[in-house]
Amino acid sequence: MNKLSAALLVGAATLAFAASAQAEADGEAIYNQACMACHMTGAAGAPIRGDADAWAPRVEQGIDTLYTHAIEGIGAMPPKGGQMGLSDEEVQAAVDYMVEPVL
Ligand code: HEC
Repeated sequence: MNKLSAALLVGAATLAFAASAQAEADGEAIYNQACMACHMTGAAGAPIRGDADAWAPRVEQGIDTLYTHAIEGIGAMPPKGGQMGLSDEEVQAAVDYMVEPVL
């Protein structure tokens, strides 16, 4: 029994570690890897995660528009944050994570 739970724990840790590189869409990991450089600092005028005033007019456009702009780019925001290796689902998960504190 102990051996089994240890094996399960190791498996879970490995999965969590692999998530940022895998199709498994982990919004937080993708944000940390691909979006944080601009969206934590406000670089190039990027709306900062958790800044309700900056996000209010953007969130009003609807989540689908935000997904589209994140995937295709808008203004100084490069398509997929410049990480063209990300799938659309991964970018959407990162958008969900980004707007979650202001919804
Ligand atoms: C190189 C800097 C940079 C990176 C990296 C970046 N962004 Fe942005 N992002 C911006 C800027 C600048 C804007 C504001 C664009 C504008 O409205 O003119 C923006 C705006 C957005 C918006 C709002 C779009 C709208 O319709 O108002 C979303 C959503 C977004 N980014 C998601 C992401 C996601 C998800 C990632 C990571 C996959 C990411 N960004 C990575 C710079 C960046």
